[in-house]
Amino acid sequence: MAGAPKVLAVDDNQEGLFALEQVLQKHGFSTLTASNGQEALKCLESEFPDVILLDVNMPGIDGFEVTKRIKSDPWLRYIPILLLTAKDTSEAVVEGLEKGADDFVRKPFESEELIARVRAALRTRKLYLELEQSRRVTAELQQRLGQSATFGNIIGQSSAMKEVYALLEKIKDSDVPVLISGESGTGKELVASALHFNGPRHAKSFVQQNCSAFNDQLLESELFGHVRGAFTGAIKDKPGLFEVADGGTFFLDEVGEMSPALQVKLLRVLQDGTFIPVGATKPKRVSVRIIAATHRNLREMVKGGTFREDLFYRLNVVNVKLPALRERRSDIPLLADFFLQTIAERTGKPVKSLSPDTLRALNSHDWPGNVRELQNEVERLNLMAGPETLITATHVSEHVQSASNESPVSSPSGSLKEAVERLERSMISAALARSEGNKSLAAKELGISRSNLINKVKEYGLS
Ligand SMILES: Nc1ncnc2c1ncn2[C@@H]1O[C@H](COP(=O)(O)OP(=O)(O)OP(=O)(O)O)[C@@H](O)[C@H]1O
Ligand SMILES: [Mg+2]
Repeated sequence: MAGAPKVLAVDDNQEGLFALEQVLQKHGFSTLTASNGQEALKCLESEFPDVILLDVNMPGIDGFEVTKRIKSDPWLRYIPILLLTAKDTSEAVVEGLEKGADDFVRKPFESEELIARVRAALRTRKLYLELEQSRRVTAELQQRLGQSATFGNIIGQSSAMKEVYALLEKIKDSDVPVLISGESGTGKELVASALHFNGPRHAKSFVQQNCSAFNDQLLESELFGHVRGAFTGAIKDKPGLFEVADGGTFFLDEVGEMSPALQVKLLRVLQDGTFIPVGATKPKRVSVRIIAATHRNLREMVKGGTFREDLFYRLNVVNVKLPALRERRSDIPLLADFFLQTIAERTGKPVKSLSPDTLRALNSHDWPGNVRELQNEVERLNLMAGPETLITATHVSEHVQSASNESPVSSPSGSLKEAVERLERSMISAALARSEGNKSLAAKELGISRSNLINKVKEYGLS
């Protein structure tokens, strides 16, 4: 509030209004006046007083109605309203407070009391404003967090993962089928469950089935159910997993392993939500969101004739491609810390940390098994370190270690030319990993031109 607090006084009685103005000004407030409800609302279109003193009984729009309108306006509702009521009307006080007024003053008023109540109202207003301010800050923070930094409990701040979060954010509330692709251990299952639990179906079932787990006949009955007598051993009706998933989400893992016959049945579920249990004649209908995952290249399988093209297009409405861990090395320390934290919580022991040379070793490994391999390595490191809280590189597994040992600096051998090439190759590939493939950044870091870098990348087959 810059300068004197501003009070809007509203009264249809000219003498009363004048008296209010006098008292307020005498106590250092600046004043605005209105002689009826209409005028008051008009005034609020251009003025923003700190407190409103409002007579209840006025012709036209009375004080209650003015209160109601102000309190339902998102912009004006933080201005405290003090109602001016005749001495013996407690119903008016009750009604006024219910309409949202903040306090009241009886007429004829005592100057001292009036001023004391106006000051109290100013304190309330300050609190309102502070609350509003912190609410805005919280909302902003939440929005920023929700936008890109993370999704569910997925760890990773690399630009590749931020792109994934942005896509998940866009599709989480819809029912479109999603195909998640990525190498083994990149988090396909984690993403599928995060999509379910952050979407509108989260209160219903999340059912998953790995399509490579059973033979064809078993998988069919598992997915779609069967009726009694459908095959030897089918001694009673059994509902399939699609029925269990009704209303929820079905995660079909390794969908590339499905036989052509089952692919047809799945296509039908995707087309109209219906399927026929094994041995039955009547179709059943379900509402299921389908998320499929594969580490295979389904497009190639379509070309090779082992995966139905129509099914591929139905499943692939949205494709979430999970990057390999070696394509987002900046997430390795984050993930390692996260796993150490999880282990500490599980075991109730203090959280361990990684020495710089351990981190260096983890950073230079290629992680063909991706996050799962890293998770296993961290579990192992945690065990090997025993009671020590600092994990050192001596504990790193041999196969992980070997990559960093191949460092051309630590084991120079062969001709000078070869050694220099090895060093060049390894520095370029490390710089590219750090810049997440951004060639301009990597070139800058290495102190060479971008075109020089591009030539070397080609020469060493690094792209
Ligand atoms: N971004 C991540 N943040 C935290 N944990 C992760 C992340 N990605 C994967 N994990 C963990 O790594 C392990 C492997 O992930 P998940 O099972 O989801 O991979 P996948 O792609 O389904 O693997 P596969 O192809 O072998 O089935 C799980 O324990 C999972 O919780
Ligand atoms: Mg999986």
